[in-house]
Amino acid sequence: MTTYPLHRGRRIRFSRQMRNLVAETHLNIDDLIYPLFVTHEKHIQKEIPSMPGCYQESIDYAVAEAQEAKELGIPAIILFGIPETKDATGSDAYCETGVIQEAIREIKKKVVDLIVIADLCMCEYTSHGHCGIVEAGEVDNDKTLEYLARIAIAQAKAGVDIVAPSGMMDGMVKVIRKSLDENGFTNIPIMSYSAKYASSFYGPFRDAAESAPQFGDRRTYQMDYRNAREAINETLTDVEEGADIVMVKPALSYLDVIYRVKQSTNLPVAAYNVSGEYSMIKAAARLGWLDEKSAMMEVLYAIKRAGADMILTYFAKQAAKELLRLKIQE
Ligand code: PBG
Repeated sequence: MTTYPLHRGRRIRFSRQMRNLVAETHLNIDDLIYPLFVTHEKHIQKEIPSMPGCYQESIDYAVAEAQEAKELGIPAIILFGIPETKDATGSDAYCETGVIQEAIREIKKKVVDLIVIADLCMCEYTSHGHCGIVEAGEVDNDKTLEYLARIAIAQAKAGVDIVAPSGMMDGMVKVIRKSLDENGFTNIPIMSYSAKYASSFYGPFRDAAESAPQFGDRRTYQMDYRNAREAINETLTDVEEGADIVMVKPALSYLDVIYRVKQSTNLPVAAYNVSGEYSMIKAAARLGWLDEKSAMMEVLYAIKRAGADMILTYFAKQAAKELLRLKIQE
């Protein structure tokens, strides 16, 4: 290592072109996945108060947003459903006419060349708000698996491109893979929320998806934020069970986990820049406390630098526009 005066780190920072030339991390529109909240209601688009720029929207509006995302060059969307009725088994999630199945069918019919991912979980569909079947006050893992398999088939029949199980049930990837294969859906990939932490940063999402648990919390299935090695175990288990893409969630307080997961598997790694991470920037920007666009870009680049190959983010459209603008400027 040379030192000053031979070493002058600033030599490679004096112009934008020079900085671009030596940049180690690249963010592309191709890396972005845009989440949508689809409601069973008709012709309605309601802004989510804690998530400015995000909406609960009916299928027609979701189709329009999907089309817009596609035109910006965003390769994929992920769908969350708000059903008309919730019950103990979350039946809307696996019913042929459930809100997500309808949404998948419409979007696949009307928007070409856009990957439609479906979140595969029960919490938005169950009356108690937990991510599985509740027995004696606790989520029953193995009973839940049977339902997850049914949801996967319903989504596959509707034409989904990728299923994304997010409930942190043990064995979920294995059971979903098996039932997809047995039903002829051998080519549908599984993007598993492999290392999903019990996090307060999901707060705004639970308002948006109306999915807060009615009793207790999710700490018996989602991970403890004190643990990182455990995330590797969870990830490698999902890889063994047949996951095609693994995920770390949330992203910002877990950049170390993203880094470690990237070192321990050769599968593509996704990171979920969750609702609370979005809302924090939006709120601070509204107060004039930080610059929204530059904070957004810094955060997305940080997630990529940590090792994410793709990012699920509510900023996807905004970031795509910014990346296009920067490209023109170059
Ligand atoms: C459902 C699910 C959650 C999120 C994605 N899928 C919420 C939860 O576990 O309570 C959170 C996404 C976000 O906060 O943006 N299992």
